[in-house]
Amino acid sequence: MTLPNPAPSHAIRAARTALVRPAVSRPAPELPRVLTGDRPTGPLHLGHYFGSLLNRLRLQSEGAELFIVIPDYQVLTDRDTADQLPFFVEELVVDYLALGLDPERTVIFRHSAVPALNQLLLPFLSLVSVAELHRNPTVKDEIAHSRQAGVSGLMLTYPVHQAADILFCKAGIVPVGQDQLPHLEATRTIARRFNARYGKGGSPVFPVPEALLSAAPLLLGTDGGKMSKSRGNAIALGADEDETARLLRGAKTDADRRICYDPAGRPEVSSLLLLAALCQGRDPHTVAAEIGDAGAGRLKAVVTEAVNEHLRPFRARRAAFAADRAHLRAVLSRGNERAREIADATLAEVNAAMGMA
Ligand code: TRP
Repeated sequence: MTLPNPAPSHAIRAARTALVRPAVSRPAPELPRVLTGDRPTGPLHLGHYFGSLLNRLRLQSEGAELFIVIPDYQVLTDRDTADQLPFFVEELVVDYLALGLDPERTVIFRHSAVPALNQLLLPFLSLVSVAELHRNPTVKDEIAHSRQAGVSGLMLTYPVHQAADILFCKAGIVPVGQDQLPHLEATRTIARRFNARYGKGGSPVFPVPEALLSAAPLLLGTDGGKMSKSRGNAIALGADEDETARLLRGAKTDADRRICYDPAGRPEVSSLLLLAALCQGRDPHTVAAEIGDAGAGRLKAVVTEAVNEHLRPFRARRAAFAADRAHLRAVLSRGNERAREIADATLAEVNAAMGMA
């Protein structure tokens, strides 16, 4: 006589789930979603790498459900046309994949491909005043440096669009640089106001997200200013070894042949020391002591060697991913698809809360 198979006990089911978990990569439900992004205006550089990209990798490996938005509409805030947009978008994906972001676990998407995300902009705009939009210090700074004669409506309202980037997936954590804090504050305000105005029975529709600032110190560009895509002073992650050497040879330093780590007194020399130290996982004082009074030429040679050595495996992976454009497009279209599913659900919830469903 055979007995019917008993249903797996709760304990067995739990054990199976635990076994299956790493394979399906479902994060623990109590971890908040993490969302961040990069404008597709040029290649990612060493400042991004030590300032934010390594952090994302850490969050991914800790099991966070990570979303990376490529905010292509934002490119049009300070220029008339988005030059080379498809190329820059794909190059971002190459960098993400070469870094180790895993499209099975991390959703990579462009916001223009997610209609429901964009539609959230309309109710969100109703929640902020024109005076508040004018007060945003990052927007003010961008207006001052804009390539356009006038200020477009998009320039003034893109922080509200950014709130849609963040809230469509109900992200709870947003890793950003200091300059993005006003936008995060705008997002928090919009989430709170939406919940206060439309949340039924004390159940908020949106979490109020937190900014996660990187602990990494700021790297200077080769001209001594902040390393930035648009200032031509950056070392791209995808640059080859000769290009890296050339850029570092041209880096600003000072006339003192004795190399020491003194970020306040000698910012350019110190930033180069820091770069070498970060690449080698060492202390910048130690790097400085080894160079001693061999001067800026020696310092630059040491930094070049450190950067090229550190990035060699990344650059090899980068070249392999860059050669397979079809794969890049497939990664992006899968990410877009997943983002659309989530955005559709959030928009439906928003419309229902607002009595528009
Ligand atoms: N404004 C960001 C930048 O200029 C890019 C961005 C768009 C973003 N949407 C975002 C960053 C959402 C974090 C979260 O770099």
